[in-house]
Amino acid sequence: MQRHTTLGEFIIENQKDFPYAKGELSALLSSIRLAGKMVNQEINKAGLANILGSSGDENVQGEQQQKLDLLANDMFISTLRNRGEICGLGSEEMEDFVEFNDEIHKESKYVVLIDPLDGSSNIDVNVSVGTIFSIYRRVSEPGTPVQLEDFLQPGNKQVAAGYLVYGTSTMLVYTTGNGVNAFTYDPGIGSFFLSHPKMTVKPQGKIYSINEGNYVHMPEGVKQYIKWCQELDPATNRPLTSRYIGSLVADFHRNLLKGGIYIYPRGTKAPNGKLRLLYECNPMAFLIEQAGGKASDGFTRILDIDPTELHQRVPFFCGSREMVDKAEEFMERFKDE
Ligand code: AHG
Ligand code: MN
Ligand code: MN
Repeated sequence: MQRHTTLGEFIIENQKDFPYAKGELSALLSSIRLAGKMVNQEINKAGLANILGSSGDENVQGEQQQKLDLLANDMFISTLRNRGEICGLGSEEMEDFVEFNDEIHKESKYVVLIDPLDGSSNIDVNVSVGTIFSIYRRVSEPGTPVQLEDFLQPGNKQVAAGYLVYGTSTMLVYTTGNGVNAFTYDPGIGSFFLSHPKMTVKPQGKIYSINEGNYVHMPEGVKQYIKWCQELDPATNRPLTSRYIGSLVADFHRNLLKGGIYIYPRGTKAPNGKLRLLYECNPMAFLIEQAGGKASDGFTRILDIDPTELHQRVPFFCGSREMVDKAEEFMERFKDE
């Protein structure tokens, strides 16, 4: 009989990869899994919220209805706070990081950065959304208040990163620096099962993903790269395929499975693009590199950027290695235009 590994079993089995760890990271990943299940539950019934709630701002329990991204934020914060594996959390939804300073957090070594609901504008139209997370060891002394410097670490210091995609099925994809593994949620059983072990991304794919509505505002290198994608590929006699969902998690997930490149460049209106280094680009860059791909800002490796602020934005080129190499070639060639 085929053996089905659950996420819980996998986390425990792989704890030995961290000889210095005493199980806190495993417990933290389990907490993220739990919060993810709770958010998944809310997202699944998002379309029912207006039917079940009263006509005003309150739902049937008389609670204020919250925007789902704030609800997801609260769920991750309260789940992680209750469990004591981290001493602080930074979120795309909050201006400042929060410190966890109860007795159970005294010895906590980790901090989490999170985009609780990515692609949230897609909720209303029943399109996939996700949660992105990134885990670091704190650099300040355990037992003292967590500091900004604990969060402003370059992505190459990540201990683990991953995402949940709430799609046609819900999946959790993560890395601890030892490859990428993906788990698919069985809602009947309430467990994630290992469905995509040791994921790798093709060196060259057929998909490019970019919001072409911003075309006129893009740097010349990106315009030229798009043109290159649209030329006939001699091997297939077809141009590359354009696919853009507008949820980074969903666009990334598709390109990871099929091979492709995702670009969110700087524009004349957004000098550093739109995506956030700490909550979106670093975790995705860690994942794609672990799958054999590449991520850069067009010139520099994302994971080597030293962050200066929590909500820093950065241009993002991410996906199949040869495709990102090619895009960088165009960026370099047209950098002065
Ligand atoms: P969020 O919902 O967390 O604010 O992120 C939205 C991001 C990302 O998911 C997506 O790739 C990008 O915004 C889409 O932006 P455009 O609509 O400008 O293409
Ligand atoms: Mn996002
Ligand atoms: Mn978000």
